[in-house]
Amino acid sequence: MFRIDRNLTADELDKALRTDVAEGLTARPKQLPPKWFYDERGSGLFEDITRLPEYYPTRAERSILETHADEIAEASGAVALIELGSGAGVKTRLLLDAMRRQGELTRFVPVDVSGEFLAASARPVVDDYPGLDVHAVVGDFEHHLGLLPVSESGRQLLAVLGSTIGNQEPGPRDSFLRDIHDVLHRGDSLLLGADLVKDPARLVAAYDDSQGVTAAFNRNVLSVINQQLGGDFDPTAYEHLAVWNAECEWIEMRLRARSAQHVRVADLDLEVGFAEGEEMRTEISAKFRREGLAAELDAAGFDLTHWWTDAEGDFALTLATVR
Ligand code: SAH
Ligand code: AVI
Repeated sequence: MFRIDRNLTADELDKALRTDVAEGLTARPKQLPPKWFYDERGSGLFEDITRLPEYYPTRAERSILETHADEIAEASGAVALIELGSGAGVKTRLLLDAMRRQGELTRFVPVDVSGEFLAASARPVVDDYPGLDVHAVVGDFEHHLGLLPVSESGRQLLAVLGSTIGNQEPGPRDSFLRDIHDVLHRGDSLLLGADLVKDPARLVAAYDDSQGVTAAFNRNVLSVINQQLGGDFDPTAYEHLAVWNAECEWIEMRLRARSAQHVRVADLDLEVGFAEGEEMRTEISAKFRREGLAAELDAAGFDLTHWWTDAEGDFALTLATVR
């Protein structure tokens, strides 16, 4: 059975975009939240990124799942999988397969802000897993966790894969983990993918690939503003930057105006200027260390039970249970 809940109507999505863009373009320095990369084109570009030679996280996480999915299914004892920021859900199938082998899988709840992409990726799951209740939710996981269809019976496994957790700053990230804790029940599990701190040169290459796919993904946020809010950004007038912030241990993606720009966003009745060389931050992608992540999970009310990495030690998957 397939159903899709829209916790975020087109109107609400529009309102949230307006607020973020109005605040972000008038802030100093200017910045935009990364969730607005993901219209249908942006979600497709992210999938292209996952196949780039420089972008190791997806392959690394997949290799961990290939080795440990059965252990995850067994340790969690879950009958339902909830996935936040599910995207194309390619790696998710390794988990669904393992849970099915355990014999108790009944429900899959993929959650994503990118509605059309979610519908297209979640619907075929029903055909591939006959009898599975696929309950997709279009929503913002920073605001709508309380609306998730969490079962009262049977264990739940909630997954946040791909190091999507790293796209939030430390304060919101802590709140996010606490919110996840609060929607689950004691004994339920959280499966968290986290990219690890490593040689900055490899990190920068992963976010500034030679084919320019990440640059197109970064500039896509300007196209989203143009299409959704009547903006007149010229995306080609902005250079893509990926910078390692050693103090915060995160990659920052920025857009830098190649020359002075005057931009009008008609639907907001907003005019903004960019000086030549002015930079706007569009994403952080935090990189983790074991001690730090264990402490964050502990503070949010989870007991870390498993820590797996790929053979190169690039990426970690952690399993934690609600205390
Ligand atoms: N989990 C997949 C996709 C990661 S890309 C993987 O590991 O490959 C990040 C995904 O999170 C995108 O599909 C994006 O649309 C979604 N996303 C980003 N911010 C979100 C938010 N605030 N609420 C819900 N989904 C969000
Ligand atoms: C979804 N998220 C974890 C990706 C990341 O690596 O931070 C988004 C991304 N940005 C640039 N490349 C990929």
